[in-house]
Amino acid sequence: MSDRITQLRNDFDGELKAVSADAGANALRDRWVGRKSGVITAEMKTLGKLSPEDRRVAGQRLNELKDYVEAEIEKLQADFAAKREAEQLVKERIDVTLPGRRIEAGHLHPITLLRQKIEDIFVSMGYEIEDGPEIETNFYNFDALNIPANHPARSPQDTFYINDHLALRSQTSTMQIHAMQKRRPPLRIAAPGRVFRRDTPDATHNPMFYQVEGLLIDRGITLGDLKGTVEEFVRRLFGPETRTRFRPSYFPFVEPGAEIDYTCFKCNGAGCRICKGSGWIEMGGSGMVHPNVLRAVGIDPEEFTGFAFGLGLDRLCALMYGLDDIRLLYENDVRFLEQFR
Ligand code: DAH
Repeated sequence: MSDRITQLRNDFDGELKAVSADAGANALRDRWVGRKSGVITAEMKTLGKLSPEDRRVAGQRLNELKDYVEAEIEKLQADFAAKREAEQLVKERIDVTLPGRRIEAGHLHPITLLRQKIEDIFVSMGYEIEDGPEIETNFYNFDALNIPANHPARSPQDTFYINDHLALRSQTSTMQIHAMQKRRPPLRIAAPGRVFRRDTPDATHNPMFYQVEGLLIDRGITLGDLKGTVEEFVRRLFGPETRTRFRPSYFPFVEPGAEIDYTCFKCNGAGCRICKGSGWIEMGGSGMVHPNVLRAVGIDPEEFTGFAFGLGLDRLCALMYGLDDIRLLYENDVRFLEQFR
């Protein structure tokens, strides 16, 4: 019996060495000390056949072997657990010295950036920012702006009509009327917003685009005030060197009317690719508010005068960012927009 127990222990040691994973350790335990069919359990059952003296010695040695087997398996399992934990730690190691990953944040559209810049300038000059409807009645779109019944701007080929009375506004000049109805002069407002025209899209046209309207009404306002205001505005937007010029022009809601040019922000008037060699860039229309417009909102043109101007944001935005097609501004291609963060 004694030899047999030595043999068993050697067998166990051999099997123990061969175990390389947790599952193997469990199987080894079942095989050796399992309650039902463990090798040692079975061996215990044979003790009854021995003489009392041999049974005592063999029983003690079998018990020792059982303790030994259980202890060894426990040790083995503890080893496995420690190894697993060590591997886990290596796998989950964090390098706290690595620079953080930047979280992608949203950002403003280039037109919005430009609009905000322009709003800031007007606010700093004492103007209030106004917002108004994109769908307007004929009164706001045309009548109150002194646009005659036969004017081409009223044509459904130029303007998006919703019905006989309503249309998408084709210019932010409609905001002049709203502003004067809302408050009495003196008043100063700037109104940025979208306008709509039935233009075929191309590199410089889009059926929807952005304008900013300016309006100032007070006693004794002259063309000199308009020129001074526009000059100050372009200097703040493009830099102190910028100059302006006024070219006489016609708009029904002003008299006299003028188109405003400013010296190219790139070449400062010398002529370059941006200004197509002329040194000047067109900014928009302007003029002294027509007496009929003041009358349409119940303001006495003998008492009050004022000026108005309107500028487009899209071509300006395209020029400033060197875009050769304004449609890029509306395609919402993230690869394009990403550049303006
Ligand atoms: N509304 C004109 C346009 O869209 C621009 C304009 C011209 C606005 C003269 C004005 C102005 O306020 O006085 O073409």
